[in-house]
Amino acid sequence: MELCLCILAAGQGKRMNSDLPKVLHPIGGQPMIGHVLAAAAQLTTSRPVIIHGHGGARLQDFYAGHDLTWVIQEPQLGTGHAMLQALPVLSSGSLVLILYGDVPLLSAPTLKRLVEAAEPQGFSLLTVILDDPTGCGRIVRDEHGRIVRIVEHKDASPDELHLTEVNTGVMAVRAEYLQRWLPALRSENAQGEYYLTDCVAMAVAEGIPVIGVTPDSAMEVTGVNDRRQQALLERAFQAMQAEELMRGGVSLRDPARLDIRGELVCGRDVCLDVNVVFEGKVRLGDGVRVGPNCLIRDSVLEAGVEVLANTVIEQATIGSHSKVGPFARIRPETILGTDVHIGNFVEVKKSVIAEGSKVNHLSYVGDAEIGRAVNVGAGTITCNYDGAHKHRTVIEDDAFIGSDTQLVAPVRVGKGATVAAGTTVTEDVEPGRLVISRVRQKTIAGYQRPRKDK
Ligand code: UD1
Ligand code: CA
Repeated sequence: MELCLCILAAGQGKRMNSDLPKVLHPIGGQPMIGHVLAAAAQLTTSRPVIIHGHGGARLQDFYAGHDLTWVIQEPQLGTGHAMLQALPVLSSGSLVLILYGDVPLLSAPTLKRLVEAAEPQGFSLLTVILDDPTGCGRIVRDEHGRIVRIVEHKDASPDELHLTEVNTGVMAVRAEYLQRWLPALRSENAQGEYYLTDCVAMAVAEGIPVIGVTPDSAMEVTGVNDRRQQALLERAFQAMQAEELMRGGVSLRDPARLDIRGELVCGRDVCLDVNVVFEGKVRLGDGVRVGPNCLIRDSVLEAGVEVLANTVIEQATIGSHSKVGPFARIRPETILGTDVHIGNFVEVKKSVIAEGSKVNHLSYVGDAEIGRAVNVGAGTITCNYDGAHKHRTVIEDDAFIGSDTQLVAPVRVGKGATVAAGTTVTEDVEPGRLVISRVRQKTIAGYQRPRKDK
């Protein structure tokens, strides 16, 4: 049977106290609704239907270019009313999987089980037993254990309030049933809303069994209503990712102090110290070691790279066996070759540094091309910006750049040339030459330092 996806995302999310639509708030760097779409995409290629209301324009902007069907619900009169708006876009022969945009951790295997349970008779429901079911709709079962209806917390009798099995809201229902039942929903209840959950009693009245399915963990069906719950799910999500890395052979000094906000792919025997944050797409080769307190975004670190404490790397490629940090900043469009050393308080931007070269202390290297086996001394600055334009610095193989050098770009230092410490290089240096620009040292005898008057 064809599977249709409907994601409810029209709720206001008042308790987030935010200008951003709730379902765009991130978990692991991805909007909550993005997680829902990703899980659903593992079940079907059919185009998802998103029911939106509050902040719908921002939602549509965010997903511009994605193959989605948008349905507006205005005003929001309950979950049943939301699904009623979607009826015209559901194909009648399909099974409809109803998901919530603010329940981000549902796994594809759980959804598969839910769909399989609905296939024979046309209706299944994801339920969970909670220690504290306050606020949730309760699952009412008969003496044979069959689901008979759902009662919302605000409509429940004192006895029903003791029920701990709750409705997660996630269900799979044949479209033809929804077409029959949704227009018949009534809003005579404690909240004056059209409850999707009333479909359960309608099914049972027609002799259609409603099959309950439980997720592997309660976290999977936990929804986000406020920032506290968002933070809770963030940690749960990070813990899941850490588990997966460790299963794949990555050592984590502390699995609770790692954040992956995107996609991290690791080789064998990678070792990550505490408080490392990965963003975007990052690939770490075999044996990469990352020290504490590093941020690595959209980068590739080849085999054997060592990143020392407090280093930031963005949009860069770090060649095998290179060593970066501590306290280094590697900025976008930087490519380091094999066995390059970048040391403390060094900033490298949009530069290529070839095999075996070293920039070990307190330097700025921007818009530069540095050859092999170059030594860049402490405090070297590429003066790449004239106030209007950026210019390139080229340093050829085997050059030696003495400490406290300024390279005023555009400028080239030839192969094997030596720049003496303290030099301001303003013209190209021929290969093999020594260049020096320094005021000759003078010594003045008998000098008295000024003193403060008493
Ligand atoms: C609903 C269920 C309840 C269940 C709970 C689980 C109903 C009547 N009740 O509660 O049994 O235990 O979810 O979280 O279905 N939404 C819309 N339009 C609306 C109202 C809601 O799109 O008019 C969306 C929200 O954006 C949210 C989801 O539906 O993603 C659930 O809404 P929410 O108000 O959180 O749940 P309840 O209706 O209280
Ligand atoms: Ca909710």
